[in-house]
Amino acid sequence: ARQPSAPPRELLFKFLVIGDYGVGKTAIVRRYTEGKFSSNYKITIGADFAIKSLQWDPGTKVNLQLWDIAGHERFGYMTRVYFKYAVAAAVVFDVSRIATFQSVQKWLTDLREKVSLQDGSPVPVVLLANKCDIAAASVPTDLVARFCRDNGLVAWYLTSAKENIAIDEAMACLVRQVLALR
Ligand code: GTP
Ligand code: MG
Repeated sequence: ARQPSAPPRELLFKFLVIGDYGVGKTAIVRRYTEGKFSSNYKITIGADFAIKSLQWDPGTKVNLQLWDIAGHERFGYMTRVYFKYAVAAAVVFDVSRIATFQSVQKWLTDLREKVSLQDGSPVPVVLLANKCDIAAASVPTDLVARFCRDNGLVAWYLTSAKENIAIDEAMACLVRQVLALR
């Protein structure tokens, strides 16, 4: 634990938000950083980023640089550049489209090929099962939990950018992981 007398610190972390197109990555980042939601779909081209500042504890300010990578970019040659220096990632799927859950493995493989921590260990990852506000969710939770165990993910959350469910918690979980690894 930090000493109460330690000088205040300000940290900057780059987090990635990845997953198939249309799963809600931009909506999650927008909800988290601006507190807004829109039901219009505007596809992300390339990547966007947004900043969220958190007063983590009295002596620690954390600035998160959230990189929102276009779902259509998975096979794009730019992803390696976008992933550089990231220290954590949120992989997102859409609970109403099972195919987007099946893609999570590919995103994870891609991520782990392209980025790791300085000591070579994999960056911490949380899985976001988004659009949990939609009643006809089709992905069984036991399958998701097993996937997380088998693939060394830190945690998974049922989230909704629309209803603002569990997004703050998921990001805080990643921050805790990153701080613990420093
Ligand atoms: P790409 O930029 O193409 O990779 O997609 P994306 O993952 O950024 O998806 P985006 O955030 O643009 O969301 C796609 C659509 O899903 C939009 O119409 C959003 O309004 C909708 N959406 C996102 N999150 C939620 C949610 O939690 N609930 C519901 N009901 N709709 C959502
Ligand atoms: Mg987007």
